[in-house]
Amino acid sequence: MAEIEERGGVVAFEEFMELALYHPVHGYYSGEKPRYGRDGDFLTAPTSSAWYPRVLARLFIALAGDLKPLRFVDAASGDGSLIWELLKALGQGAGATLAEVVSVERSAAMRSRQLEHLDGAPVPVRWVDDIAGVGARSEPTVVHASELFDAQPVVRVVGRGGGLRELWVHLTGEGLGWEERPARSKVVAYFARHGVHLVEGQLAEANLGALALHRSLLGAAGTDGLALVLDYGYEARRLYDPRGRGGGSLATFRRHRVGRDPLESPGEVDLTAHVNWDDLRAAAAVEGWSEIGLWPLAEFLVRAGIGNELDARGLGMEAELDVATVTARQEVKRLLDPDGMGSDLKVLVQARGEMAETAKSVLSFEF
Ligand SMILES: C[S@@+](CC[C@H](N)C(=O)[O-])C[C@H]1O[C@@H](n2cnc3c(N)ncnc32)[C@H](O)[C@@H]1O
Repeated sequence: MAEIEERGGVVAFEEFMELALYHPVHGYYSGEKPRYGRDGDFLTAPTSSAWYPRVLARLFIALAGDLKPLRFVDAASGDGSLIWELLKALGQGAGATLAEVVSVERSAAMRSRQLEHLDGAPVPVRWVDDIAGVGARSEPTVVHASELFDAQPVVRVVGRGGGLRELWVHLTGEGLGWEERPARSKVVAYFARHGVHLVEGQLAEANLGALALHRSLLGAAGTDGLALVLDYGYEARRLYDPRGRGGGSLATFRRHRVGRDPLESPGEVDLTAHVNWDDLRAAAAVEGWSEIGLWPLAEFLVRAGIGNELDARGLGMEAELDVATVTARQEVKRLLDPDGMGSDLKVLVQARGEMAETAKSVLSFEF
């Protein structure tokens, strides 16, 4: 509240969301404890179990087999669960698959938490707080981002009189309230670029920085790379379809419960808005990358070999039904769930250079 007061008592929603999530002291993601995972407010694929990292390990072994040891960049690496479990799954042979791991995490608390966990890792691990700090190298590089984009500040607009009004947040006597203002030109330009017209009263959000952020992610991979972006989202025509999402996609999460009032308890609840995949496609077009696929998480995992991974661990169809098998199958089921993560989360796979051919041969097959 004091920060909003300092800014004249009113801020664009984008600025409010930036403060609520990333204020160095009061921001939701600035605390000492990770906010996600089983004991947190929401599950992500990397924190739900070891199965997502295990499947990535299998995929990386296949890619490196055809190329050479890869560099792995995990952007928004959070509490480091993914890197930790990935290295565990690769085991003693990690060095044959990975030449280097770069962990990109904005939160200083999470970076130091990772340092403790990953001390003595079998491959060199480097930490940076921003994608710009990754630096390009000659090795084929996999860049990965799980729920990076849906954790970025967004602008919020409402359809009025055939045009757009932008929502700002202002201090009221009792707390926080909404204020409608003429949409700024960069906001109008974003929706015009995507050919979006909102109907009267329709709410919508936009991450104006998504294209630039994704360009920097692709840039970090250099000329021979694979990008795996795991997130919640739709293409513009579905994201902004008033029949499906007339109220926008902005949501709050607390203790695995979804809420719709983003002004309630700033800094204590997660704030998230869906990705517009067209922005990430536009970034790839500018950078000269091609698309391998945009698949629901379940389909991506099947393509990347989750069935073989279960078999290899003796947990396939033939497995005896003991506690270990049942637990493993429950964990896998959560990732494949057609009414949950398995279909709501998508994986956008893009590639450039030699990696594009290799990734196509590993992932793009007819079922
Ligand atoms: C929803 S969490 C996802 C964490 C992890 N990837 C996972 O799936 O479990 C979002 C994370 O992104 C980090 N983050 C947000 N913007 C970032 C940026 N520009 N660069 C690096 N990390 C960022 C936040 O600090 C937070 O830890």
